[in-house]
Amino acid sequence: MSGPSIVVRDLTKKFGSFTAVDRISFEVPKGEIFGFLGPNGAGKSTTIRMLCGILQPTSGEARVGGFSVTTESEEIKKIIGYMSQKFTLYNDLTVEENIAFHGGIRRLPPAVLAERKRWVLKMAGLVGRERALARELSGGWKQRLALGCAILHRPQILFLDEPTASVDPVSRRDFWDLIYELSGEGTTTFVTSHYMDEVERCHRLAIIYAGVIIALGSPRELKIRFAGAESASLEQVFVAAIGSARTA
Ligand SMILES: Nc1ncnc2c1ncn2[C@@H]1O[C@H](COP(=O)(O)OP(=O)(O)O)[C@@H](O)[C@H]1O
Ligand SMILES: [Mg+2]
Repeated sequence: MSGPSIVVRDLTKKFGSFTAVDRISFEVPKGEIFGFLGPNGAGKSTTIRMLCGILQPTSGEARVGGFSVTTESEEIKKIIGYMSQKFTLYNDLTVEENIAFHGGIRRLPPAVLAERKRWVLKMAGLVGRERALARELSGGWKQRLALGCAILHRPQILFLDEPTASVDPVSRRDFWDLIYELSGEGTTTFVTSHYMDEVERCHRLAIIYAGVIIALGSPRELKIRFAGAESASLEQVFVAAIGSARTA
């Protein structure tokens, strides 16, 4: 596919009279790690669910991998990986059974599954733990297994909804190393977070507040624009961006 991986134009979602996502627009080029930062209830998960073709927008449009979220959501599901806030693992299955289960959903032929399974186990640092029950894994391992299951079919575009919300800082860093590795191989990643230190590592990020994108750029650009200096923190950017959105 040529062109950006994700194109969003005036995308809007209303629940009754409440507008959860309000005419957002942006593009994400291939291979980029794009962060979506915002407080709880800002509209992050609602946006990601629309982009994955799970939730129909009220108005506006988005194309993911060239496919429309409104008319081609089945095509989108084939080319994306999605890791939701609640990891989609089966606690009563072992590591390798979880991998086999997800491979089955993706209809991977046995030989391909065997090769991908080795790749995922190695990448996620799970070699030797194949027979452990998912429930026995600690937060960081579980999260890497969930990511492994989400990328078994080698998706072009990866959607991660607060993937590190319940893991320790070391595991978080390991997890980000994996995201970089995938990005280096051309995978586009759209990741939501409410951790400032985490989105610092994104190539570009958008700040969403009350359903509206109030800032968009690289961490460096946003620091200069909102806090006047490259040495500023993203916290300062966040506070300044929300402050100016409130008075606008
Ligand atoms: N199915 C739904 N019905 C009604 N309101 C919803 C629904 N899903 C989300 N919302 C509301 O939309 C807003 C944005 O939610 P969400 O996208 O989950 O925020 P975030 O992921 O940024 O925390 C919240 O106020 C939430 O309560
Ligand atoms: Mg959410």
